[in-house]
Amino acid sequence: MIAMHIPRLLAKKRDGHALEQNEIEWFIHHLHQIPNEQIGAFLMACQINGLNAQETTYLTKAMLEKGECLPKQDDAVDKHSTGGVGDKMSLILAPALRACGAIVPMLAGRGLAHTGGTIDKLESIPGFNTGLTIGEMIKNPCFISRQTPEIAPTDSILYAIRDVTATVPCIGLITASILSKKAAEGIQSLVLDVKFGRAAFMQHSEDARALAESMVRVGTELGFEVVAQLTQMDHPIGCMLGNSHEIVETIDCLKGAGPHDTMELVHAQANALGFDITEVISNGSALNEFKSMLERQGVDSSIAQQLIDDPWSVLQRAPQQYTLHAEQSGFIADLDALVIGQVLCEAGAGRSVQGAEIHHGIGIKIHHHIGSKVEEGDAILTMDGPFGIDVQLIQRLKNSITISDYQVATSSRILETVAISDCSTT
Ligand code: URA
Repeated sequence: MIAMHIPRLLAKKRDGHALEQNEIEWFIHHLHQIPNEQIGAFLMACQINGLNAQETTYLTKAMLEKGECLPKQDDAVDKHSTGGVGDKMSLILAPALRACGAIVPMLAGRGLAHTGGTIDKLESIPGFNTGLTIGEMIKNPCFISRQTPEIAPTDSILYAIRDVTATVPCIGLITASILSKKAAEGIQSLVLDVKFGRAAFMQHSEDARALAESMVRVGTELGFEVVAQLTQMDHPIGCMLGNSHEIVETIDCLKGAGPHDTMELVHAQANALGFDITEVISNGSALNEFKSMLERQGVDSSIAQQLIDDPWSVLQRAPQQYTLHAEQSGFIADLDALVIGQVLCEAGAGRSVQGAEIHHGIGIKIHHHIGSKVEEGDAILTMDGPFGIDVQLIQRLKNSITISDYQVATSSRILETVAISDCSTT
């Protein structure tokens, strides 16, 4: 491969020109040697000018080729979300699909910006190993692992830098990040949860549709079936938000006691992959698969059982409770998921510098969701936070709640489905 003058390549993208395949391949191939400031500049140029369909395909393929792949398996399926607040569906879906007989080789990510990440959530469980070797992945019929130096290595670098350089909401970068991971898993089918709304990386449904089409097109080119569901992300999903907190709610869901909005999405994702998970949730086999997955990924069997029986006896929980009460009687009209996600992230549940430690025990329990009737003084939400939290964070949390005199209508979060037949051919 010929040497590349990086500042010239950056200037080309900065000035709005499309990059050639060999330029993208060179950049990704040498990513490990390129300083972070040049990677950051590359990402910002992509964010500002976008990547066209060809550049997106070249980037995805270059990222895929830089790492190893699992062998292709006919009954391997997976799901990925573009990121939300309270988005814990993968943790419920993976064991439920396994209980239905599917192979689930799931590569997931850490939190990005104000959204939570499946890997961070799993790392709140003592002993859970999120960095499996390829050998361990191959032996494992249902796992959730992060990108490693062996598999999806360049996504791991770009992902961490995007998180702290405001370069997440770019259709081409999201497509390449997600699809390079999914193609490395050797799957047959994939369902994507493409979120739109205030707390999503795509604010409007038209942008989410464009992202969905981009991912469905690239996934199809890479040889697996892909369907995308566009889902609304203005309000938090479920009642528990944060890392430990979402593990607690995952266990409730697997015990058949999950909130309706969360289970609606999990069932829809399973159905899109051709599975009905009703039975495996009600007969406890999905919960058993969750326990087996924890054990296969390093959690001591007695800790896994204790987690299922009494989650808070195992998980970290921040020491101070801050409860916000209704200042008037009425109905909950709004809970702003973007503000809530940002407050959680800034309080320490997420990162603002690369590689920062997070506090798994910081989180929120929502006592009353959208549409609920409340009386003045009722608890609306409780934040588990550190002692002496910045009062401005609590004030912002307060401002995220709107109570009105009339009841707002609640509806399904699912707007539409995008398959390859819905994608334009240009
Ligand atoms: N999830 C990913 O894996 N990558 C993104 O860019 C966004 C969500």
